[in-house]
Amino acid sequence: MLHLPLYAWNFPPFFLWALNDALGPKAAAAGLIEDSCEGSVTGGKRILVAYDTIHGSTAEVAKSIGDTLCARGFQVDVRFVGNVTALQDYDAVILGSAIYEFRWLPDAMAFLKNNTAALSAMPVAYFIVGASLFQDTPENRDAVKKSFIDPVLTEYPDIKPLSIGLFGGAVDFKKEQYNLFEKFVLRILGLIVGFKDSADWRNWEYINSWANEVGDQLQ
Ligand SMILES: Cc1cc2nc3c(=O)[nH]c(=O)nc-3n(C[C@H](O)[C@H](O)[C@H](O)COP(=O)(O)O)c2cc1C
Repeated sequence: MLHLPLYAWNFPPFFLWALNDALGPKAAAAGLIEDSCEGSVTGGKRILVAYDTIHGSTAEVAKSIGDTLCARGFQVDVRFVGNVTALQDYDAVILGSAIYEFRWLPDAMAFLKNNTAALSAMPVAYFIVGASLFQDTPENRDAVKKSFIDPVLTEYPDIKPLSIGLFGGAVDFKKEQYNLFEKFVLRILGLIVGFKDSADWRNWEYINSWANEVGDQLQ
């Protein structure tokens, strides 16, 4: 394992963006999950868990959050954010994005832009999923929040999330969905943080305790 600075992954080496353009588009979103407990749960507040993903690990995080909230009696829809057409049926929204190239994914950002007024007037929570959280320390959380949450809070100041979840992500070369650019980035990341073909930094216990905290606030 290379011993590069722990926070290197939080700061953008801009040459990567040029490389990305040169090597072509990333894979289309894979592993989308659409789920609902509306039929089995009645009477609870209606919550939308909307997420953006490329390779599916964020979809699985969204599903797990949805399951936790369903078990508490909320009526939850888990939706790929690009498939959400209206918010009027919901009492609250939990929005999550994977982090790619130091930013939220475009469909999650478009969702904020297109629904700013509605989201400003209802309870909202954000979560992000990224390799940056491969080590869950207070210092790293602080750096990740500054890099990936603060710019969104600044761009959409009227949307005031009641909670923000910062979660480690996952990579898996065996899925063979990665384009050349992604493989290049992931090989470098693997050298920095010490993995070869796959890694999964998602802490399900932590994710579900965060979902429960959000549930407490939405009760
Ligand atoms: C090309 C590429 C760029 C990435 N850029 C970042 C990044 O800037 N910050 C970060 O924390 N994670 C980054 N990651 C890691 C992903 O956020 C992580 O693997 C996440 O779990 C992917 O989510 P998904 O499976 O829902 O697409 C990157 C991964 C790839 C393949």
